[in-house]
Amino acid sequence: MSTTATLEIDGKKYNLPIVVGTEGERAVDVSTLRAATGHITLDEGYGNTGSCKSAVTFIDGEKGILRYRGIPIEELADQSTFIETAYLIIYGHLPTSAELQRFSDLLTENQNLHEDMKYHFNGFPPNAHPMAILSAMINANSCFYPGLMGPEVRNEFDIHVARLISQVRTIAAFSYRKSRGYPYIYPKRDLKYTANFLHMMFSQPYDDYKLIPEVVHALDLIFLLHADHEQNCSTSTVRMVASGQANLFASAAAGVCALWGHLHGGANQAVVEMLQQIYDSGDDGSKFITAAKDKTSGKRLMGFGHRVYKNHDPRARIIKKACDDILVKLHINDPLLDIAKRLEEVALRESYFIERKLYPNVDFYSGIIMRAIGIPVEMFTVMFAIGRMPGWIANFKEIMEEKQSRIYRPRQVYIGPVNQTYVPRPQRKPRTV
Ligand code: SDX
Repeated sequence: MSTTATLEIDGKKYNLPIVVGTEGERAVDVSTLRAATGHITLDEGYGNTGSCKSAVTFIDGEKGILRYRGIPIEELADQSTFIETAYLIIYGHLPTSAELQRFSDLLTENQNLHEDMKYHFNGFPPNAHPMAILSAMINANSCFYPGLMGPEVRNEFDIHVARLISQVRTIAAFSYRKSRGYPYIYPKRDLKYTANFLHMMFSQPYDDYKLIPEVVHALDLIFLLHADHEQNCSTSTVRMVASGQANLFASAAAGVCALWGHLHGGANQAVVEMLQQIYDSGDDGSKFITAAKDKTSGKRLMGFGHRVYKNHDPRARIIKKACDDILVKLHINDPLLDIAKRLEEVALRESYFIERKLYPNVDFYSGIIMRAIGIPVEMFTVMFAIGRMPGWIANFKEIMEEKQSRIYRPRQVYIGPVNQTYVPRPQRKPRTV
């Protein structure tokens, strides 16, 4: 296969190197294009543009393949835990027992927020969206760790990683408790990551939350399945911010903001709100599917479609099965799951979805599990952020460790007004719209 691509402009030919990834992906390296030709590329939405080389996650969208550091998501979902997978994603290998124990100890030692952080929670109205709180509090939290911005940051990186992964959970739980007027519940030393989060969310000072192993496993699986996903919108945002040499917490806070959008991580909340609307309207889903195909309706089948997957999102398959398991265990019959399954069944028979290769994505069923656990819908995207933290950290680390790390600064094609001049205010005429 060719090792270079030839571009011809105005009769002149230019050879551009082809880069091949370890899974055989091929890219035309255009890093010399502007200097050689005076032209840039234009790819709105970056659907054809690779922003970096990364060794963290591989996705084959046509085949529905997802691998973290080369390991299939199905194997990790079946045999690993969120924290072991977080270690794999961040440090590049499955931890030995000693490495996992040290990582777990670091998470435990760093799970408490600085007590002064509690005053920040008091500044938010009770109905503040938890994603707004999360991004703000991650940045506020960084003020208690000046070493994040110091020259020694690399030596303390593991501590900062542990603080971020451990405390994002505490911030999320405290924001929930504050929104309900409940007292803060502190993490326990003897509880593992996800169990501790559920404890902080749902225990009372006089009564510990009853940890059901299947519930803990279901949420841990949700975190694991969200742990990384190549250069999605929020991870690319983290890399963009990290490329300017901003600190880890600032980069993660930016990732939270990017994740919030309903086309991205906010979709899990939008899916359940969509299912609830369908249920409340008495529609069996057919009317909604019709509306979702009609561009003028302004409706989309949330949780369906993906920029990369043009086949089933492997995570959706795993979560769909976990839905059935957890609802049976908790003796819950959730009509929204029935509607979701019917939507999937109908949509996958419709030419509109088939032609556009629209399948359920990670967000389509995840909310059903979180509902069953008792997590409020406005916190669904916060769960996504907790799960995605290892992926954001791993991408930050790749930038931090790059020898020739350069600031990300895309170009543009200017289409604004030309040949303008300054007009003194008295001479300006009102604009006719
Ligand atoms: C996540 O990138 C990642 O990896 C993200 C993620 C991760 O782990 O980080 O996987 C997590 O964000 C999953 C996606 C969650 N979002 C949603 O479920 C929102 C609903 N889906 C979409 O809006 C859409 O499918 C996107 C945003 C996911 C992808 O958008 P694209 O790639 O820009 O596709 P598009 O909007 O150009 O759509 C192509 C066509 C259009 O129709 P035509 O103009 O060709 O006629 O498909 C249609 C769209 O109208 N379409 C849909 C649809 N999604 C796309 N029509 C109805 N319902 C939908 N959900």
